[in-house]
Order: sequence, then structure tokens, then C-alpha cells
Amino acid sequence: MTSPAPVSARRDLTDAPLLVAARGGTPRHTPVWFMRQAGRSLPEYRKVREGTPMLQACLTPELVCEITAQPVRRHGVDAAILFSDIVLPLYAAGIGLDIVAGTGPVVAEPVRDAAAVAALPELHVEQVAPVAEAVRLLLAELGETPLIGFAGAPFTLASYLVEGGPSRNHERTKALMHSDPATWHALLEKLADTTLTFLRTQLAAGVDAVQLFDSWAGALSVRDYREFVLPHSERIFQGVAEAAPDVPKIHFGVGTGELLGDMQSAGADVVGVDWRVPLDEAARRLRAANPGSDPVVQGNLDPAVLFAGEDAVRREVSRILAEGTAAAGHLFNLGHGVLPTTDPDVLTAVVRQVHAESARS
Ligand code: CP3
Repeated sequence: MTSPAPVSARRDLTDAPLLVAARGGTPRHTPVWFMRQAGRSLPEYRKVREGTPMLQACLTPELVCEITAQPVRRHGVDAAILFSDIVLPLYAAGIGLDIVAGTGPVVAEPVRDAAAVAALPELHVEQVAPVAEAVRLLLAELGETPLIGFAGAPFTLASYLVEGGPSRNHERTKALMHSDPATWHALLEKLADTTLTFLRTQLAAGVDAVQLFDSWAGALSVRDYREFVLPHSERIFQGVAEAAPDVPKIHFGVGTGELLGDMQSAGADVVGVDWRVPLDEAARRLRAANPGSDPVVQGNLDPAVLFAGEDAVRREVSRILAEGTAAAGHLFNLGHGVLPTTDPDVLTAVVRQVHAESARS
């Protein structure tokens, strides 16, 4: 593993609601941002992306800066999230993969045995230098708005590499895990190294918070999560904490109601919750799993509810704000990413409502 330059002077955003809430303090209003806020729901995004393939766009600093800033300008969200993709560091490291429209990431040669794992290249900092450059451009562009960096967690990355693309049942991934644990752990170790190099690069460039996406971890039993996944994600959070002790760490997955406590104990400051578990229940589970902890949660409006009309959206936002008060802190978000056909004006209205209803004088 190669290490990026030491962490540069991070911006002092002491009062930024997102950072205050993530650290368990009392922000002036509940912060709100949306997973996938930068992207296909925005006409201004479709316009600037036209003609540029996704992975190439992720390695073009000016484009990343523009796309990342678009939802901040339009919606007034409390954070920007770097425009990238979880497979970008794998691509940058030289693994043959592409993002295919309408499908998602597709891997040329799926990784299914010890030889393929041994042959996987590791990521070098220079290979993601354009991402570091994009972060630097963004810090100048965003003013007081925090920038969230992110990476995919080893299990979710492994699922794409082993299956060869998106998967409903993750059967080849689980087969490797159970039939050849040594190869499985070697694979996750390599992926954790890559993720850590990618996150350290973003931290060195100055991101204000990080989110680890283990989007598909909810496919696992608690037992399998603990044995085959948790130690690797834990190592990533430790590495982030060592590189940047004050930077809040968010851990997110879909369908992870049974895993919330473990996802917190992996080393997260904030646990992402999808729409299936109410935030007050999520806070209860986190306290039960880690006694003495004061959990901070992120979520959890069902992205499909954004299609249900103004009244329904308002009711759901109010409910979630009320349930979020059961935790020591709440970062308002969706339970998963913005769907492509979402009306952007509905997102703007959610931001206004969250700010108005949660304002503290
Ligand atoms: O859809 C868009 O907004 C346009 C750009 C795009 C992204 N990813 C942005 C992205 C495209 C075409 C992809 C490809 C992709 N990558 C897909 C298919 C997307 C689709 O539905 O067409 C998938 C499933 C991936 C893999 C992936 N990328 C995962 C599992 C995650 C974690 C978040 C999640 O949805 O579970 C990502 C991260 C990601 N992809 C982000 C962005 C802007 C970053 C995080 C964010 O903004 O929330």
C-alpha cells in the first residue's frame, strides 16, 4: 500500500450543522443531504455529462467539481458529496471494468479464485490524483459547506468483482466466502487496502467527512457479517481515524436493520439507516448493541415517497424528524439514493422543510 501526503490543513467549519450533528453536538438545524444528490435527477447534470463516459467524468477534476457543487447550489443542502463511484478506485488501479448504462458496473474478468485474487493490482495514490485535484477545487468552491468523501466497503466491492456485475442474490460471492475463507479474506484485505488508499487520498486533499458505502451488506446474516466482513471494514475506519482523527465517519448499507450495532462498532461515528427501520428503533438497537454509546443516525426517507405528492412527503419528513430526536444526533437523508426520475423541486422542498422544522433559535 502507498500512502498519500500528510493531511493538509483542514478547513475550520466548526459551526457547520453536518459536522456538529455528526459529532453529537447541537446544530442550529438538522443537517440534510441526499445520497445521489449529484447525478441523473438534475437536468444541469445531464447537460454537463453529455458525451463523457461515467468513469472518465470521475477522473476529470473540473467536471467532478461542477457536478458535486450543482445540488448545493440548487437545493441548499448541508453537505456536498464528491461525485465519483465506488468502483472508480478499482478502475483507476487497472482492473478491467466499465459502467454500462442501464446495468451498472461490469467487470471484464470476474475474480473467483486464489490466482485471480493474487493478480489483483493495488491502488497507487498517483492513479487517483485527479480525485485529489477535484477535492482541492471543491474546497475553494464550496465556502462553508462541508464536503463528504466516500468509498465502497470491501464486501460491496467484492460483490461486483466476484459476480462480474450487479447481483440480486450474491450467490458467487457467498460461495467464495464459505468455500474458501482464506481466499475470501485475502480478497477483502486487498480491497480494504485500496479503499483505505482512496480515502486517505481524499482526506489528505481535505474532505470534511467520509462515508463508507457497504450498500449490499444487508444481504448477509449477522454471523457472516461478523466473520467475513466486519474486521476488514473495521481496519478501514481505524486507518481513517489515524489519518484524520476529527473527521466524522459515516457507515451506510441497505437492509441492514439487523447489522446496525455491528456497523457502528466497526468504528463509525454515524450509522446510516434505510427506510425499513424507524430512526427511534434504530437508536434503540444501537444503544442495546453498544451500551453507553450515544448513537448518531443518518436517514431515512424512502426515496419512493418523493413521488407521493406534497402532503405525503411533508408528513413523512415530519415523522422522521420526530423519530430522529431519539438519537444523540440526526443527519437527515434518504434511506438510499435519489431515484433518477425524482422531481428535483421535491428535494428542494424537503431541504426547506427540514431546516424550518428543526431550526433552533
Ligand atoms: O446515476 C447517476 O447519478 C449517474 C452517475 C452514476 C453513478 N454511478 C454515480 C454514483 C452511474 C451511471 C453509476 C453506475 C453505478 N455504480 C450503478 C448503476 C447506477 C444505476 O442505477 O444506473 C451502481 C449500482 C453502481 C455501484 C455503486 N455506486 C454503489 C453500490 C454505490 C453506493 C451508493 C448506493 O447507491 O448504494 C455507488 C456510489 C455512487 N455512484 C455515487 C454516485 C454519485 C456516490 C454517492 C452518492 O452520491 O450517494
